[in-house]
Amino acid sequence: MAYQATAVDAMESCGFEFLGMLGLGHETRLFWHPGKRVELAVVQHSDSLLVKGMKKYFVTGQSKDGRETYVRDLPGLMRYMEDHFPEAHLYLGFFRDLSIRFVPGAPETEAAATRLTRASEELQTISANGAKHQKIITALKDVSEFGEASQVLRTRVKKSDQDSAALRSEMQSLRERLTGLHEMMAQYREHGRASALAFGYSSPVFCCEPQSLAATVDAVVDDVMNTHHTSVRQKLEGGQLQVFIEELSFPWMMYSAEAVGLYAPGQIERLAAEVPSIDLGEIEEALSSMLIVSPAEDIDVRGHRTPAKRIAAQAFREFLKRVDAVEPPSTGTRLPEEGVLIGHIMQGSRQTDTPLFLPLDSLVHGYCSGISGSGKSFLSRVIAEGAIADGRNLVVLDPGNQWAGLLLPEDRSDVLARFREFGMDPSSARGFPANYCKPDSMTQEVSSRLEDPDGQPTVFSFKGLPKANMCDLAAKMLQHLFHTHARSESDGLRTLVIIEEAHRFTKLRSDDDTTKKAVAAVEDAIDLIAREGRKYGLNVFLVSQTIRDFTHSAATIRQNTTTKVFMRSSDRELDYAADYIRDPRQLTSLQPGEAIVCNPLFGSVKVRVRPPFSKVIELSARDSATLLGGAASPSSTTAASDEAEALLRVVEDHYRETGEPIIMSHAMIKIGVTSGRKKMALVNTLERQGLIRTQKLKKLGAPRVLFPVE
Ligand SMILES: Nc1ncnc2c1ncn2[C@@H]1O[C@H](COP(=O)(O)OP(=O)(O)OP(=O)(O)O)[C@@H](O)[C@H]1O
Ligand SMILES: [Mg+2]
Repeated sequence: MAYQATAVDAMESCGFEFLGMLGLGHETRLFWHPGKRVELAVVQHSDSLLVKGMKKYFVTGQSKDGRETYVRDLPGLMRYMEDHFPEAHLYLGFFRDLSIRFVPGAPETEAAATRLTRASEELQTISANGAKHQKIITALKDVSEFGEASQVLRTRVKKSDQDSAALRSEMQSLRERLTGLHEMMAQYREHGRASALAFGYSSPVFCCEPQSLAATVDAVVDDVMNTHHTSVRQKLEGGQLQVFIEELSFPWMMYSAEAVGLYAPGQIERLAAEVPSIDLGEIEEALSSMLIVSPAEDIDVRGHRTPAKRIAAQAFREFLKRVDAVEPPSTGTRLPEEGVLIGHIMQGSRQTDTPLFLPLDSLVHGYCSGISGSGKSFLSRVIAEGAIADGRNLVVLDPGNQWAGLLLPEDRSDVLARFREFGMDPSSARGFPANYCKPDSMTQEVSSRLEDPDGQPTVFSFKGLPKANMCDLAAKMLQHLFHTHARSESDGLRTLVIIEEAHRFTKLRSDDDTTKKAVAAVEDAIDLIAREGRKYGLNVFLVSQTIRDFTHSAATIRQNTTTKVFMRSSDRELDYAADYIRDPRQLTSLQPGEAIVCNPLFGSVKVRVRPPFSKVIELSARDSATLLGGAASPSSTTAASDEAEALLRVVEDHYRETGEPIIMSHAMIKIGVTSGRKKMALVNTLERQGLIRTQKLKKLGAPRVLFPVE
């Protein structure tokens, strides 16, 4: 069959190893990618192949500071996992035949028993020597010249009596301890259960012809890896469980977890004894790290009853300690060194000097929530400016008139006063060249604007449009963006679509059928881009008050937005945020402009957001009309020279103030340029014009510095 001839080769060329075959009516071949730890099931069905990918995990680890904040009961943990991972398949196997090796206290019992045996051997030797010496003393009693020697022997007898007494008392307490431990172990064997907590994610089933197997495998792996990064890791690592996950490093370990009945520790031991040729040590060892031992009932040792719940928690903690090989992500995580400068990291209420950069290619769809006045519009402007500075396409859907200010420099003194806190020069405030449109329907011009003919960002303002028209138009724009991008795949971000006040496009609060239909179309289009836009380099950044603003696509947004930004929120957002940040209550006390930014690159980080260079302000109809007149719509050439001018100013100011040249990357932060290409272009322009000169320092990293030319 075509499949048999080519499949294994095709799979091997994709880095997969053939694991084996399952005969479940259809022959299912299992493959494993050791590097990516992805498992594939491939089934032949008439002339087609059905391919499904899986990634599997088990719970591990706990916060480094050792706080006991994980759930205290296993059913509770189970419920949490089911509620928060509807897409995961959870296995929590209980089995009763605990092997003695897995019972708490077993190593202690073993150590005490060994010591007891040694002590009793020592006692025998000491007693025998004591008795021997006593005999000699009796025999020598009448011989006076041996008086001195018998004195020595008497001292020895006394010493051995003392040693024997000490040993007897130690043995007595060891026996008592052993009895206690044996009783506890007996209790555990009677009531204790071992369980393995593992869960997995499965991709949808993909269907393909045998000749396109390799391409399908790529798509499946992509799906699995994407969910791995965006959903599973992020949720658990920022989440309230404070337990972490470890991926299974051997595919068969999951089968062990699924088939705990077969691999119950006691049964493995019995099997190993019955069939010595089978080496089950490896399975046993790997399985032991996945075990939680918890009692089914209270454990009562000599009238001392310990509540079962506590023991479960302790056992769970012991289990976590045993497998805690994974570094908790937010401690010691390296922060990205390049990307959009979001702001400075905060420690409690103190703003540090540590910048938080967000690489645009790691944004992979964003979601920003917060109550009115929390700073969402400022934050999304910061991201927009980063995208423009980095040469990406930017489309803004603005239900109001706030984004016209993108074209204008910030000029309010209270906002400018904050520039220096972030190492930004107030004189670098500037507007960005952009197309500003107020369309009322989907025209040829709108479509061509969306295709970004001139490389300039486009702001679409919907101010004044009735809701039905606004949503209908927004849905069409999003669909158009998706279809034009879907023509070719892209590794990185090509176009960022910021949807400001997304709830105004989405909330289903209308009796009118046309509006309802238009609203549903927007949600569908957002849903589509969130699920599939990434591979075409099309990302959305949704700005809204709460996740509840999205009705049917909320699950997609939860799962597919990799970057979450939480700003001050009321109680209704906390449940959702709890999946990503340890203490969601802190959201209620954030100040305007403070945010918790979550991304798998750095976990969750509290940030004071930098002020944008341009002005975030709701313009009056008249002001925006003036702007529309083109007066404030500079061309991109002016913008380039604006940036070059800002750079020159920074270089000159720095030299005047310090007498030193400025490090190039520091100068770029001050003017908000992050793209490597753009940085070099600006420096080259000024150098060519003879306005600056550059030099590479002979220190670590060979930083380039910029001098003004007098
Ligand atoms: N990064 C920032 N730098 C300086 N000031 C800020 C910043 N973020 C917020 N502010 C202050 O907080 C105010 C509210 O911010 P912003 O308009 O972004 O809130 P919002 O969440 O978009 O509110 P709404 O939902 O009403 O649109 C701003 O007018 C400004 O004074
Ligand atoms: Mg706003």
